[in-house]
Amino acid sequence: AISKRLYHPNVIEHYTNPRNVGSLDKSQSNVGTGLVGAPACGDVMKLQIQVNDNTGIIENVKFKTFGCGSAIASSSYVTELVRGKTLEDAAKIKNTEIAKELSLPPVKLHCSMLAEDAIKAAIRDYQSKRKATVLK
Ligand code: FES
Ligand code: FES
Repeated sequence: AISKRLYHPNVIEHYTNPRNVGSLDKSQSNVGTGLVGAPACGDVMKLQIQVNDNTGIIENVKFKTFGCGSAIASSSYVTELVRGKTLEDAAKIKNTEIAKELSLPPVKLHCSMLAEDAIKAAIRDYQSKRKATVLK
């Protein structure tokens, strides 16, 4: 009952039924991994993307979040947002967009920040791996 008062239904829905939980094979050259932590609370989020090297489109995405309900809901929502997007478009996702969808209160804004940081880190990881392969 307490959580129902504190959390918006969209948060509870994603938290109860999170999308795309799991891991992708890090050793694959077209998988980018972002692992980020929130200094405010110590919560940790891992987000992985699998990219089509030819089109630059994110074809698969998985996450694992050790954190609060809002962080789990934010990661779940962001995986839905980025699937099928180009890296360029995925990089433009702002935490405010996530926070708005989930109606996060100010104290929970950093939870959505974690999701923005995680997708950006995953994109950077993919790009640096790709550079390394091209240079080989
Ligand atoms: Fe405890 Fe986020 S601060 S789960
Ligand atoms: Fe820290 Fe949600 S990520 S409280």
